[in-house]
Amino acid sequence: MRGGVEVKACGPDELLPALTPVWHYFGATPTPESSERIARFIAPGRAHAARMDGEVVGGASAFSFELTVPGARLPAAGVAAVAALPTHRRRGILRSLMRAQLDDVHERGEPLAVLWASDERIYGRYGYGVASLAGEMNLPRVRASLRGPAEPVGQARLVSLEEARAAFPDIYERVAAETPGIYARSEDWWDLRVLADPPERRAGGGELVRVLVEIGGRPEGYALYRIHQSFEHGFSIGHARVLEAMGTSADATREVWRVLLGVDWVDRITASLLPIDHALFFLLEEPRRMTLRVGDGIWLRLVDVGAALGARSYRDGAQVVLDVQDDFCPWNAGRWKVDAANVGRSDEEPDVHCDVSELGSVFLGGFTFAQLAAAGRARELRARGLARADALFRTDRAPWCPEIF
Ligand SMILES: CC(C)(COP(=O)(O)OP(=O)(O)OC[C@H]1O[C@@H](n2cnc3c(N)ncnc32)[C@H](O)[C@@H]1OP(=O)(O)O)[C@@H](O)C(=O)NCCC(=O)NCCS
Repeated sequence: MRGGVEVKACGPDELLPALTPVWHYFGATPTPESSERIARFIAPGRAHAARMDGEVVGGASAFSFELTVPGARLPAAGVAAVAALPTHRRRGILRSLMRAQLDDVHERGEPLAVLWASDERIYGRYGYGVASLAGEMNLPRVRASLRGPAEPVGQARLVSLEEARAAFPDIYERVAAETPGIYARSEDWWDLRVLADPPERRAGGGELVRVLVEIGGRPEGYALYRIHQSFEHGFSIGHARVLEAMGTSADATREVWRVLLGVDWVDRITASLLPIDHALFFLLEEPRRMTLRVGDGIWLRLVDVGAALGARSYRDGAQVVLDVQDDFCPWNAGRWKVDAANVGRSDEEPDVHCDVSELGSVFLGGFTFAQLAAAGRARELRARGLARADALFRTDRAPWCPEIF
């Protein structure tokens, strides 16, 4: 109990009240059916409800994820459904929920927590840092010409739900295994969240379209999109909205986008969660026409700095001592020595000082210590400390999370 706020973990039958505050902001009330569906993803005890005077006024939940980080996959809390009712804002409900949730994540031995933030001002104070970027594309169809081979490689097909269900998870898994920021999906996640297509999820668009690309007879890429059709003056002003598209190789990625960019009868192709190093920059004749808007992607918190730093891989050849500040989870604070072979506590002079939220920003390779220092968010304490830290933490590809959870 803090400031009159009481936070408790919910049992399997208590999920509904914990979800009510966040549903308020979607303009709805959870039903027993909807909460039963969500209960398949939120394990007992992973939802927290905040009460004041006996009434539920806030809630926060977490999925149990396996998240790809450079060189490894780690258990992570996928934080979601966080809210306080509008009648009880700024009375410490979020703070109490974050306290209970991060303590719980720590006790479960999950070294990381990740989330999508509805507002960038909320989570830094709890040790989360923006860890990946996401690109939003709005490409006029007539400007969507591809470079590269004129003839398709392999075969693209529109497939049934059953065929998508059989082929897509393996493709996703192969991409996820080597892309920091992607988490493993369960069978239920595929069925109920990714491939389910109830009318209320169409947001004014048509049915979910499933595209499979096979190369050499093997499934190598897929896309999910919807057509939002509309006509004016006799021609389409509609768009094809790409919900998810990926390939296991350069060929597969290009062939998936060849289909998406070639959908006739639409004015634009839109997508909102593209990786920031997407091949489209070099595949399109006119990448400028994407009018790409870049925003924050996932936010990451190192809940157990030692375990998290110790599990990821590093480039050889450098070592660094980081002086980490962590006011909200003080068990992480102090000096950590990192090199490609070892990570551990250290008494040596530190090279770089930063807050744990900044460590969250560099952990997946999405940002550098030098970038943070340029904004006054990391401090170099010894010569070439930033350069050595960046030499260790650098990765080959930008982290990417293709889905808001
Ligand atoms: C965002 C939200 C959860 C905050 O809950 P709350 O109970 O009012 O937050 P608290 O009273 O615990 O405030 C904690 C701190 O965060 C700050 N804060 C919270 N939300 C903020 C916001 N949107 N902008 C700026 N600061 C914010 C508070 O000022 C306070 O700062 P302090 O610790 O320095 O005093 C609540 O406003 C809400 O439910 N919003 C709509 C749903 C939503 O955005 N959920 C997050 C989904 S990712």
